[in-house]
Amino acid sequence: MRIALLAAASTLVLAACGTTSSAPKARTPDVPTTSTARQAVAVLASASGSLVSGSVTLTPMGKGLHLTGEIGGLPANGTHAFHIHEKGDCSAADASSAGPHFNPFNTAHGKAGSGAHHAGDMNNLTANAEGVAKVDAHIEGVTLGGGAINDVAGRALIVHAAPDDYASQPAGNAGARVACGLIKVTQ
Ligand code: CU
Ligand code: ZN
Repeated sequence: MRIALLAAASTLVLAACGTTSSAPKARTPDVPTTSTARQAVAVLASASGSLVSGSVTLTPMGKGLHLTGEIGGLPANGTHAFHIHEKGDCSAADASSAGPHFNPFNTAHGKAGSGAHHAGDMNNLTANAEGVAKVDAHIEGVTLGGGAINDVAGRALIVHAAPDDYASQPAGNAGARVACGLIKVTQ
């Protein structure tokens, strides 16, 4: 009896697998998940004439990276877009040198964790009454070190003047770039 039930169950599983593989291939890229570095730090300096600066530590965790740190000099209680941008170049006064959002899979801008979004898209930061935003975020689908297509080492972390609306293309209508930092591997 027990054996019969198991057999029936495995037949169902096999049938389900068969159905899946014969269906049209979903548009899910193979996302590399192996990071070779153990830690990176981005020291963010002000841009666009702001007073915003801070430091964020990035650590591989699960299928992505965990970010912790603090950004200060923001307007009190403000909400600010926060992204990884493609180029590790913060040299322009307005940080335009960092290029667009990091987008190795050629997707639309959006909200991380709900539908299409850039690999570099993250949730908005919120400053407290002192203008300090604590960073405690997780970003899926990116790696640190190793040179895979989704490796964020050597790219830039950017804070914007305005919140990300998670919808407008190509960058969420987030306004000026008020701080920029190179993601530098430290371990
Ligand atoms: Cu941005
Ligand atoms: Zn984006």
